[in-house]
Amino acid sequence: MKKSTRGALGAVAFLSIAATFLVGPGFAADAPTGVTNIFKPLSTPAQAIREVSFLVLAICAGIFLVVGGLLAYTVVRFRQRPTDDGQEPPQIYGSNQLEFAWTVIPIVTVFVLFLATARTIYDVQGAAQPADALNVTVVGHQWWWEIRYPNLGIVTANELHVPVSESSQRRPTFLKLESVDVAHSFWVPQLAGKTDVIPNRENRMWIEPIQPGIYVGNCAEYCGMQHAHMLLRVIVHSPGDFEKWTAAQQQLPVDDPQARAGRDVFFTTSCINCHTIKGTKAMGTFGPDLTHLMSRETLGAGTVPNTAEKLRTWVRDPQTIKEGCNMPNMQLTDNELDQIVAYLVTLK
Ligand code: CUA
Repeated sequence: MKKSTRGALGAVAFLSIAATFLVGPGFAADAPTGVTNIFKPLSTPAQAIREVSFLVLAICAGIFLVVGGLLAYTVVRFRQRPTDDGQEPPQIYGSNQLEFAWTVIPIVTVFVLFLATARTIYDVQGAAQPADALNVTVVGHQWWWEIRYPNLGIVTANELHVPVSESSQRRPTFLKLESVDVAHSFWVPQLAGKTDVIPNRENRMWIEPIQPGIYVGNCAEYCGMQHAHMLLRVIVHSPGDFEKWTAAQQQLPVDDPQARAGRDVFFTTSCINCHTIKGTKAMGTFGPDLTHLMSRETLGAGTVPNTAEKLRTWVRDPQTIKEGCNMPNMQLTDNELDQIVAYLVTLK
């Protein structure tokens, strides 16, 4: 193969790989599900972060072009030529103007970057909480998110439901972040920056989504074996839908006579030591609250879809779905398993 052909093939391969990475996230970003995109913010703090990142990128691109351009010019202009006599060129020392320029320009550049960044950090972290804001406490666990609404009396897991913020009525959500075990990090790229979730410390952040939809996020701090399966979804509702969701979550589960057998199995095994079902004697807080288990889209913090079939596999032995998770195999018989799943699916 000729050298030029090989070069052209290489360029085509490089361009198509680059195109895949550039087009991929952009394509998915229109639907706020699936792959997320830091360049498509739909929330006030995330928009502020994008603005400052573009400024930083533009300044860095300018520096790159100047330095790279001068370097390329020098390499070409002063390359070795056949007519060179092999003598060392004249050596020159010191130029006050040059040294002054390459000291002052970087200082000014860094100062501009510092001011722009400090302003954004101040705007985001110092934002006052409006009266209409929703307060939510997010607790990091290995490997799932506990989500508590202290003023609404709701506890759920791995899905943060919030109202959309409209220009006529701003409704941001202010989050208090806590951890019961190791350090995690709460990150929903389209809504805000990352904030670490640290044991024995209370961190705060806020989001203000401006478009209803589902926004995916994840734990962004390595926290052990199943760090990759510590996903979260933020479901942004229109104001009316948010009221409906709140009302449904505040209901106690319906006592279905068909599910009594499964209920008995549930209450006579150690399930109740770790899980809460509101209105019953199950009040454990080590694992996710199951009061409205079936209202959630996934099991195991985004590991598998929440269907009756997956739920059965999960209850039989969670380790087959999420190895290392803290829920043990309860050694249930097939019959007990059928009954318990029949009960769990009534928790809507
Ligand atoms: Cu929690 Cu990584």
